[in-house]
Amino acid sequence: STVNSTTSSKNIMWHEGKVTYEDRCKNLTQNGVVVWFTGLSGSGKSTIAVEVEKELLKQGKAVYRLDGDNVRHGLNSDLGFAKEDRDENIRRIAEVAALFKDAGLITLASFISPFQEMRDFARERAGEDSFIEIYVKADVPTCAERDPKGLYQKAKQGEIDDFTGVSSPYETPETSDVIIDTDKLSIGESVQKILEVIANEQ
Ligand code: PPS
Repeated sequence: STVNSTTSSKNIMWHEGKVTYEDRCKNLTQNGVVVWFTGLSGSGKSTIAVEVEKELLKQGKAVYRLDGDNVRHGLNSDLGFAKEDRDENIRRIAEVAALFKDAGLITLASFISPFQEMRDFARERAGEDSFIEIYVKADVPTCAERDPKGLYQKAKQGEIDDFTGVSSPYETPETSDVIIDTDKLSIGESVQKILEVIANEQ
């Protein structure tokens, strides 16, 4: 990756603790994993992630969900939707998700994450064996028709700049582990498919 993840601060040294990732996983009786949902606004990624979270909790799993609309209210409230801001948004979330995974949590991250380079960065930070990318596939016309928040309508009227799929790009994922075709699968079927993939990692 060309993303700069090296520290800019000088005289910083990694401090090893006495508790390892394996120790934490043993206590939790699960493995940490980052489940990364990517897709257009309105594709259904948040809806599906919410249901997956609920089911995993029922199974007794330690699970935590990070979501675009929520994270942008706090940690990333200083960021907008220009490419540099989206890249910084995903860079921070990738780091947070990797930390949550290291804590032993099943971490669900649901962000448009339109650029392949930053999705690759998230995978690299979590570790190849602890990362599942889920492409929630729905094309622009489909999402624009659903338009649950009325954002496509606004974007087409020129009221929102840099709107993904309208005036800002979405790079089709090249290396997804799972593709959810929302034209063919119901939400329930999508959730089951994803739960199976997560179970295989546990
Ligand atoms: S990104 O591209 O990954 O940094 O985006 P993300 O953090 O997931 O934020 C997407 C949500 O922000 C709302 N929103 C916009 N989306 C895309 N483009 C523009 N310009 C924009 N402005 C606001 C929108 O509600 C997205 O939520 P979802 O859940 O994806 O519909």
